[in-house]
Amino acid sequence: MKTIPFILALLCCMAAQAQQYDESKVPAYTLPDPLLTLKGRKVADVLDWNHVRRHEILRLFEDNIYGQMPQDFDSIRFVTLREEPRAMDGKARLKETRITVYRMGKSVAIHLVLFVPNNISRPAPVFLLINNRGKNITDPDRKEKSPFWPAEMVIDSGYAIAAFHVSDLAPDNKDTYMNGVLQLYPEQLEADNGMKAIGAWAWGAARVRDYFKEERLVNPWKVAVVGHSRGGKAALWAAAQDQRFALCISNCSGNSGAALARRQFGERISRINSTFPHWFNNNYKKYNDQENELPVDQHMLIALIAPRPVYATNATKDLWADPTGTFLSLKNAEKVYGLYNLKSALPATPPAPDTAIEASILGYHNRTGEHDMTIFDWQHFIRFADIHFKIDR
Ligand code: GCU
Repeated sequence: MKTIPFILALLCCMAAQAQQYDESKVPAYTLPDPLLTLKGRKVADVLDWNHVRRHEILRLFEDNIYGQMPQDFDSIRFVTLREEPRAMDGKARLKETRITVYRMGKSVAIHLVLFVPNNISRPAPVFLLINNRGKNITDPDRKEKSPFWPAEMVIDSGYAIAAFHVSDLAPDNKDTYMNGVLQLYPEQLEADNGMKAIGAWAWGAARVRDYFKEERLVNPWKVAVVGHSRGGKAALWAAAQDQRFALCISNCSGNSGAALARRQFGERISRINSTFPHWFNNNYKKYNDQENELPVDQHMLIALIAPRPVYATNATKDLWADPTGTFLSLKNAEKVYGLYNLKSALPATPPAPDTAIEASILGYHNRTGEHDMTIFDWQHFIRFADIHFKIDR
């Protein structure tokens, strides 16, 4: 007798799922204009953007989605834990560093794994991964090698590669996320616009950038911050907040990452807030099923990174992350890049799967396959960085 309600529930669930992925069900929507100030004035130029509108938008994202980004701490220390000058059969130097940040008698420690190519004489440009998967993915001993962080391939391309694990900053769990950076900033836990896990991960990326400034092996002005999925949301937020990141790569970041919320396609705000209540601030919960009430949409997060290059990706079987919504987010950020006279080479409509748009300040591809970060993706990240960091081989 219990089977009938069960079948009904299953049918309802399947219908809801189909609707989630039905382009014809995307409602009509109007995106907030990144170039219209809160007072309704049109942004005139780059100065106006930087002095007025950029701050407004940053504040709107802090208050309504990601939370504040506290900048004050008492001190920061970098301790080399291990150094192997001839790692990876001699082609790279391995350096493991503990970055400890202190505030009001508390501290948080970030463990950084860094490989730097041995065959270049200048400080190396570097890819920094915000690692949201297993720590084994960035195995410093290289016994395990993962396409998610293909360190050998990146080293062969003349780049350094680094990674830290999100759990050092905020465990990815609704009951324990506060056992990291938030111990330094307990007041954030009280505030409706307080920092939560995604903000904490982005904060960690900024502390790694502090370390790169002191590390002569890497070029601190050529740091590409990279993240996949939830890590990709954090990478965008890190680059939006911290203008020292020279380039941002957001892989399959989807809802509350690179994809437009107002399309209501795939994952929605209500869903992300109920499954991951510890990712975004309390205010964000007000927008459950109310996407149109948000004073921002995700194209404005990309716009905050202007004039720096952004590369966003999707995978064809990952409709949950809304490939079209990601592409449209980039397209709608173009006008802010235009203030800097930077014209993107993105086509008017999404490119065919596996067609990478790299020679463009805003880059994109939609890889054939599943939600993941693969060698194909990294090949294009490297190409995109080569173009923007002007690296000739
Ligand atoms: C879930 C979540 C996504 C997130 C993804 C991931 O699917 O709904 O928002 O991007 O996990 O991080 O892998």
